[in-house]
Amino acid sequence: MVVCVCNAIKEKDLRAAVRNGADRPSKVYAQLGRKPKCGQCLAFARTIIESQVATA
Ligand code: FES
Repeated sequence: MVVCVCNAIKEKDLRAAVRNGADRPSKVYAQLGRKPKCGQCLAFARTIIESQVATA
């Protein structure tokens, strides 16, 4: 599933970034070498980050 349309970030990329230590959207995007653009994805990204952190 694509989380961020602007940057073509998939859920699995986001979860991998969290496993590598990113704990909020700005860190996830930075780790992936991207920047949030429109911001539409941030709430969803936070939800995924929280669920990934909870299962870590
Ligand atoms: S959908 Fe992620 S910045 Fe636009």
